[in-house]
Parts: sequence; C-alpha cells; structure tokens
Amino acid sequence: MTTSRGAAAGDDANGDARVRPVERADLLGVFRIEKAVFTQPWPYAAFEQLLDAPGFLVAEGDGAGTPDTARLDAGDVLGYVVGDLTPNHGRDIGHIKDLAVRPDTQGRGLGRRLLRAALSELAAAGASVVKLEVRESNHRAQELYDDEGFEPARRIPRYYGDGEAAFVMRLDAGEWVRRRNAGDE
Ligand SMILES: CC(C)(COP(=O)(O)OP(=O)(O)OC[C@H]1O[C@@H](n2cnc3c(N)ncnc32)[C@H](O)[C@@H]1OP(=O)(O)O)[C@@H](O)C(=O)NCCC(=O)NCCS
Repeated sequence: MTTSRGAAAGDDANGDARVRPVERADLLGVFRIEKAVFTQPWPYAAFEQLLDAPGFLVAEGDGAGTPDTARLDAGDVLGYVVGDLTPNHGRDIGHIKDLAVRPDTQGRGLGRRLLRAALSELAAAGASVVKLEVRESNHRAQELYDDEGFEPARRIPRYYGDGEAAFVMRLDAGEWVRRRNAGDE
C-alpha cells in the first residue's frame, strides 16, 4: 500500500461509509458480497492475488447503520472495487475488474463512490485509459459507467461462462480527471 494510494482513497471518506485500500482481513467480507451478487463469483484466491492492485478498495461501515437497513457493524465491508494497471509502453491501461455493493446498501451512491475512488487511484498510478467488461444485460451498471464517461468500445459474444456477451467500455483517464477537477462530475 503506498501513501498516495491511501490519500486518494481517503478523499472519499464521508457519510456513513469510508472508502479505503483493501486489507487482507477484508477478504472474507468481500468474498461474501461477491457470492451474494454474482451468478458466477470469482474464487477467493482471485481476490488474494490482487491484494496489491492499485485500485482494490473497500467501503466500510462506521457502525452507525441507516434507518432503513439492518444495523451495520463498524468495519463491515459494504462494497468493493478491484482496479488494476497493466504497463503498456508509457500508455498504461487501467482495468476495473470487479465492482459490487452489498445488496442491502445498494442505490445509496456507494457504487459510484467506489468507482470514482478507483479511477482516481488508477489515474494517479499512470493509467491513460481505463477499460472494463460488463454483462450485456446489466443495464444498471452500464448506466453508472456511461454516466462516469465510459463509452462502449466493442461487444464480445459469449464472454461469460454462461454464454452471455460482454460490452467492453473505455474511459479516457486524463479527460475524466480534467472533468473531475473542473467539478463536472
Ligand atoms: C452496479 C452497482 C455496483 C452499483 O452500485 P450502487 O451503490 O447500487 O449504485 P449507486 O447508488 O452508486 O448508483 C450509481 C448509478 O447506478 C445506476 N443505478 C443505480 N441503481 C439503479 C437502478 N435501480 N436502476 C438503474 N440504474 C441504477 C444509476 O446510474 C446511478 O446513478 P444515479 O443515482 O445518479 O441515478 C451495484 O448495483 C451492484 O453491486 N450490483 C451487482 C453487482 C454488479 O452488477 N456489479 C457490476 C459488474 S460490471
């Protein structure tokens, strides 16, 4: 974990959740959410292998809970994002590999905060573009990505194990940072 990584993630600390770099102790909570929200979840070992990825962040509860959700324990993992960086001759490619929010805390802005925090980390680590794959049927996630400035680049038939196609979406990281700094979020 680097200082700049922690600082950028800390910028998103507010409200009833804090976004921060993942720690090994978070992995069980991450894996529990992964199994709850995806029909074909990643294995636990996949998260372990990505512990040092620059954009692997979690949102943790502060224990206060909210009026319309079950009580949250301090430190509970409410959501996570896995963002990684691939060197590419000076034009490094960021990759949002996974993003999920606990079902009982979805729809409160946490997914967007996690995505933005990971994009900040990847841009700070040198990403010039950021890519992701999203299921063709996942309109909710597509809406979020579209709203943050991701554009559909191509469609990959039968990308997922169950035969569903993926859209590859692409974001110009420099452009995203400029928009964010200009307050156009
Ligand atoms: C996709 C996901 C991460 C979004 O997180 P979230 O915390 O629920 O979303 P947010 O509250 O931050 O909302 C962000 C945007 O998502 C979209 N969105 C959220 N809920 C939505 C809904 N019920 N219908 C359509 N769009 C929705 C909207 O664009 C929303 O922006 P807005 O609130 O300004 O309208 C979350 O729903 C989730 O974990 N889904 C299951 C796992 C998954 O599909 N991950 C993505 C894999 S590519």
